[in-house]
Amino acid sequence: LKKIIQALDTSAIVAMTDHYGKIEYVNPLFCKISKYSAEELIGNTHRIVNSGFHPPSFFKSMWDTILQGKVWKGEIKNKAKDGSTYWVFTSIVPLEIQSTPQKKYKFISIRFDITQQKEAEEKIRKAMESLKEERAKTIYAEKMASLGELSAGIAHELGNPLGALRGRIEMLDQQILNNKFSPEKAHKTLEKVLQLTDKISRIIRGLSAYARDGSQDPYQKTDIIPMIQGILEFSNEKFKKQGIKVETQGIEKNLHIECREAEIGQVFVNLLNNACDAVSSSKDPRIWLELSKTPQDTLKIRVKDNGCGIPPEKKEKIFQSFYTTKKAGKGTGLGLSISRSIVQSHHGQIYLEDHPELTSFVVELPLKQPSPS
Ligand SMILES: Nc1ncnc2c1ncn2[C@@H]1O[C@H](COP(=O)(O)OP(=O)(O)OP(=O)(O)O)[C@@H](O)[C@H]1O
Ligand SMILES: [Mg+2]
Repeated sequence: LKKIIQALDTSAIVAMTDHYGKIEYVNPLFCKISKYSAEELIGNTHRIVNSGFHPPSFFKSMWDTILQGKVWKGEIKNKAKDGSTYWVFTSIVPLEIQSTPQKKYKFISIRFDITQQKEAEEKIRKAMESLKEERAKTIYAEKMASLGELSAGIAHELGNPLGALRGRIEMLDQQILNNKFSPEKAHKTLEKVLQLTDKISRIIRGLSAYARDGSQDPYQKTDIIPMIQGILEFSNEKFKKQGIKVETQGIEKNLHIECREAEIGQVFVNLLNNACDAVSSSKDPRIWLELSKTPQDTLKIRVKDNGCGIPPEKKEKIFQSFYTTKKAGKGTGLGLSISRSIVQSHHGQIYLEDHPELTSFVVELPLKQPSPS
């Protein structure tokens, strides 16, 4: 045993304890990393280097293992005498020294310093986290910018049905005041009133589904049709003002996909805004929005326009961050790069499709998200 320990001493941090965990032997590497002298350690238990990082259950399961005579392996964060902490990869090997009347062991622990590796892992984890935060912030900032652009239209889009609503209610009031009230007429008026309130609700639903920061939302089974209708409705004013005809296909049925609704909404708004800008100098400006399910269980969304088009050599460039051909103050060049990032995080694809006359963007999303591995 001594010889084996001597061999280990040259490369590993070694300690031996009795059956109850009392330290009987430590090698120089143990003293070096823990900054305790051998005299301070021997007679103590390993509690002296406990950092408090691991819960008691961690050590309980370790004890349960070694008291069954099995080897335990794991990563432990320990505390040195000066308060600094270090990580060690630890194997504890039980050696049976007595089998009757009760089993008794000595425990040899062999440790390797993995502090640097752990610190590197921690740095990577933190960097990944701040990347995620940055992504969320950029996505939200872009969304707010495009909302700003849409807000005049939205106010108008809500103002119209509200005005009409007021008109109908006034009409009803006049009928009552002038004793011209008839239940049939009132019923017709109220039907219209209900339609108008529904329209307002849809716009608000579209808007609130869109305006939230959805980057932390879970992926949820969503009927995306009402969301798309809401977006079309609150963008309607913008289309009308520019004389753009919008044709839709496939948005009658229910279409459920697993997604972050607010993020997917953002992709639609980006594509529709781009199409709107592209057709601004077309003679007969048109936009087509088509939705279909594919046999591969994906949802295919196509946004086409008969606008200025995209030269073949720009086909990939347009997806880069900050690439824009729009006037300063108009475009940030983030729309497509953010859309691509959203679509990719949904395990889908976004690309420009070859089409002889039209500009055609395709978004393909799986109906179900793969389960996290
Ligand atoms: N439907 C389209 N037709 C023609 N060109 C397009 C179309 N969509 C995008 N582009 C081109 O791709 C560029 C990048 O688009 P992207 O949406 O990323 O940024 P942007 O629209 O310029 O600015 P932002 O979306 O941030 O307001 C646009 O400036 C435009 O040149
Ligand atoms: Mg854009």
